[in-house]
Amino acid sequence: MSGATIAVLGGYGAVGAVAVDRLTGAATELRVGGRDLDAAGALCARLGGPAAAHRVDLTDEVSLAAFCAGADVVLNCAGPSYRVLDSVARAARAAGARYVDVAGDEPLLRRVRATDSPDAPAAVVSAGVLPGLTGVLPALLLADDEDPAAVRLELHVGGAARITPVSAVDVLLATGPEFGTSLAAWRDGAITRGALSPRWHTRVPGFSGVVHALPYLTTEVADVAAARGIGEVRQFSVYVSERVPTVLATAWAEDPEDPTGWAGVLAEAADADVAERGRHYALTLRRFDGDEPTAEVSVHTRDPYELSGVVAALTVRALLDQESLHGAHPARDVLDPIATWHALTADPLCDTGGAPLVAGRGAHDPAADALR
Ligand SMILES: NC(=O)c1ccc[n+]([C@@H]2O[C@H](COP(=O)([O-])OP(=O)(O)OC[C@H]3O[C@@H](n4cnc5c(N)ncnc54)[C@H](OP(=O)(O)O)[C@@H]3O)[C@@H](O)[C@H]2O)c1
Repeated sequence: MSGATIAVLGGYGAVGAVAVDRLTGAATELRVGGRDLDAAGALCARLGGPAAAHRVDLTDEVSLAAFCAGADVVLNCAGPSYRVLDSVARAARAAGARYVDVAGDEPLLRRVRATDSPDAPAAVVSAGVLPGLTGVLPALLLADDEDPAAVRLELHVGGAARITPVSAVDVLLATGPEFGTSLAAWRDGAITRGALSPRWHTRVPGFSGVVHALPYLTTEVADVAAARGIGEVRQFSVYVSERVPTVLATAWAEDPEDPTGWAGVLAEAADADVAERGRHYALTLRRFDGDEPTAEVSVHTRDPYELSGVVAALTVRALLDQESLHGAHPARDVLDPIATWHALTADPLCDTGGAPLVAGRGAHDPAADALR
């Protein structure tokens, strides 16, 4: 693995800078790319080692091809993802490089799969927090040798966090059934619309103070539920105020064709949340075998962008270890859940609370044993 050439597009952005930092030990050549050579150079000077600055504009095919040439893996941390789509993935594969995208979701996976072939270099999408970790962590609370049909999982994700201008565009464009379904739960093998209600002014385990928990079942989590045969999954987006959900609802109602003009207002709403409550973001997942929770895992961080950079770097490292992998995959198919959990526990940007609560499970639960 230490001989790899890794090219990180958007390598000095909010996500990319952390990914680059976490990859310095995995590469002999680490390309940090973007349109601002000075910004890339400043990061490389700080990191030293194999990091080198490259000027590249992903909308310019020639500079993108040059950036990808000779790379073993291209990691895309540039966005907005719903505008970039598969342009970087295609350039990486044309150069014979494997590909990881910190974002992507179903639209990107579908596009990459459309041009897939059995010997195409592996392309891995959704390698961040959401999507990303949200698709990986459920496996920690499920044993391989059990029937999960009687299990209910509850996932809460959110907090008070900045929204960068690039990500604000993605948040605003990530609407519709390809991304998820509001007020829905996964129940008995299907997305059940209208199954859940918003919980305004509530308290949620793992989140401090009063928050709002709004049901939103992502396609990623629904896919995991379907693949694992989980009986019920309830997923909630957690907000510390009504600001961000109000801006989103207004943008989607007033400008359904192109809500991206609201990106600045959305970023301001997020900044106001941070000013009021401080930066904190959490992902908590609880398992219920009846009315009471029987197991729980949680990841806390100050910044979901930095955490996404950690996850993206873990995905690149996992891909470098899986030489024989080809074709297009979501990150949850590449990241080993237990190894990911240990890596997050060891990372200073994450707090997993040490050993997760594992109660009321069989003594032979391999996932629980490995986490203790
Ligand atoms: N899965 C998750 O949980 C998750 C979480 C957070 C973010 N994301 C995704 O991660 C991506 C990056 O978000 P971010 O918040 O880190 O954005 P950011 O801080 O604005 O960073 C974007 C980076 O991409 C570069 N870039 C932008 N346009 C470019 C172009 N045309 N050619 C080359 N480089 C370009 C930027 O540099 P220049 O502008 O100087 O070129 C910058 O280095 C977005 O797609 C976002 O949706 C995913």
